[in-house]
Amino acid sequence: MLPDHYQFVSDVPVIPVMVIDRLDDAVPLAQALVDGGLTTLEITLRTPCALAAIEQITAQVSGALVGAGTVCNSTQFKAAVDCGAHFVVSPGHSDDLFQASNEHQTPLLPGAVTATEVMAVLNAGFPVIKYFPANTSGGVAAIKALCGPFSSATFVPTGGIGLTNLIDYLAVPNVIAVGGSWVTPANAVKARQWQRITQLASEALQLATSLRSPEGK
Ligand code: 3PG
Repeated sequence: MLPDHYQFVSDVPVIPVMVIDRLDDAVPLAQALVDGGLTTLEITLRTPCALAAIEQITAQVSGALVGAGTVCNSTQFKAAVDCGAHFVVSPGHSDDLFQASNEHQTPLLPGAVTATEVMAVLNAGFPVIKYFPANTSGGVAAIKALCGPFSSATFVPTGGIGLTNLIDYLAVPNVIAVGGSWVTPANAVKARQWQRITQLASEALQLATSLRSPEGK
């Protein structure tokens, strides 16, 4: 059972990982995803307009729960929170990030893939782990193996996930959601094909929802 402030990860089983190059795309892109049913959004701090995008989406897209991704230090953590991020995702973890999460009372999904890393994250009090990069770190088999000693861990795998393998990940009981960029292909964003993105989001959600275990995760 997840603590209340992490319950949001169980809202929707697919979390789009968004890289926004043009600020003008932020709101229509987020709206397209929300229209397709994907309401939990991770906006990566990999582009100059990412923080402004978080601010605009938070203010203008109703129903979106906006998080900041690729957060690697406490300075970025604070900047994301100041722009309205509701949660923070990192490809890795550090004491600096753990402290920032506690200080800002903002949920953090730290990255971890090895037993030692998972132990460090759980011992620091962070129950939801971004398993990244998922496919090249052992994928489904590795997560299943980690669930033996770490039965209380909850995973959100990302990295190399798409329509062909998301069901394999979501079938693992400790996997609560998957993340990925396949629902926001760069060419579709560049061409402002918002309907296509809504379609991709809706397809992903349908597939993910159809394969969730009956007891619900
Ligand atoms: C990330 O944080 O970059 C995600 O893992 C995205 O990976 P993907 O592009 O393979 O979906």
